[in-house]
Amino acid sequence: MTERQMLLSVRDLSVTFATKQGPVRAVDSLSFDVHRGRTLGIVGESGSGKSVTSMALLGLHTGAEVTGSISLDGQELVGMPERDVNRLRGCRMAMIFQDPLSSLHPYYTVGEQIAEHHRVHFHSRRSVARKRAVEMLAEVGIPEPERRAGEYPHHFSGGMRQRVMIAMALACEPELLIADEPTTALDVTVQAQILELIARLQEERGLAVVMITHDLGVVARVAHEVLVMYGGRAAEQAPVDTLFASPAHPYTRGLLDSLPRLDDADDVPLRAIPGSPPSLLAPAPGCAFAPRCARAAGASPSDRLRCETERPLLSGPAGLPQVLDFSPKLSAPLEQGGPPCTGGTPMAACHFPAYEGVAS
Ligand SMILES: Nc1ncnc2c1ncn2[C@@H]1O[C@H](COP(=O)(O)OP(=O)(O)OP(=O)(O)O)[C@@H](O)[C@H]1O
Ligand code: SF4
Ligand SMILES: [Mg+2]
Repeated sequence: MTERQMLLSVRDLSVTFATKQGPVRAVDSLSFDVHRGRTLGIVGESGSGKSVTSMALLGLHTGAEVTGSISLDGQELVGMPERDVNRLRGCRMAMIFQDPLSSLHPYYTVGEQIAEHHRVHFHSRRSVARKRAVEMLAEVGIPEPERRAGEYPHHFSGGMRQRVMIAMALACEPELLIADEPTTALDVTVQAQILELIARLQEERGLAVVMITHDLGVVARVAHEVLVMYGGRAAEQAPVDTLFASPAHPYTRGLLDSLPRLDDADDVPLRAIPGSPPSLLAPAPGCAFAPRCARAAGASPSDRLRCETERPLLSGPAGLPQVLDFSPKLSAPLEQGGPPCTGGTPMAACHFPAYEGVAS
């Protein structure tokens, strides 16, 4: 794989909100790469910073302090003037949300909305934009696209509306698609159809996809690489097969263990991770997961003290390269968050990671 295939490169990204109670660092020192034709799955509990990350990628945090670097095909987005980011949004990068109804205007037909999107970005004539809208509806599998283009969002089912959103997002032929819980509100059959649609469009167009979800089943199905977030930070980053086969971080292990299994007896209770997510207002000095971590609870007093007082940085197993890096200028580990997720080496932010099947 060459550097040319990398599309999005995020380094040491932090997002801080000023609140009455004090600063809330919702995203803390995140680094990852997304390559063309690949999908990065971002998972984590509610409040772990997934959506704040996606909004930062699109430059939508006007009221927050955003630091670090977001590079889209070599173009730095952090600090870019609003007008320029607007141009990139929808044109080179697009987003689909969990709730398409809130993103579609009830007073305009879906055809008009897709066409308007096209007109704004390409300055196309009405007839051209309208033709493109119908083509896009056909491409995302809406039957009778010519007729349905003249209908309003409330005439469409939830799954159809999500297809319309995808059509709108892709009408301007973006290179990066950010999907934030795109199938959470849908039943499993429609969910599968939408995921297949995104995968097909990805293959046809070489799209880079960031798939944000709390559903590990979705991640297993679509992601090539996975970033597990906890309390705004990266807990673990790994190729999807490695992550599911041998999660190194106790939090990832907990997430996987909490998935219901078909071979469980009826009376086996669901295995939840005890405790609640960390406060972002007053972050603990050590590992954010320490109060909930079974590995720390069973550790020696000195190891436990380390967990409680020393923040673990993202690192790979000893003996393996820390980063599969394609760019010499990025090969140095980052001071704050550790090296980025590039899809090769599993990495965990844990003092006592469990790397199975890799030399350590
Ligand atoms: N504008 C804001 N001001 C203050 N805090 C915020 C703001 N927006 C988000 N946060 C906080 O940032 C944290 C991360 O929120 P985020 O929406 O990214 O979570 P998430 O991982 O997407 O969760 P979910 O799975 O529920 O969608 C939360 O604690 C949230 O309260
Ligand atoms: S650093 Fe310690 S508390 Fe944190 S996940 Fe690892 S073992 Fe658990
Ligand atoms: Mg969210």
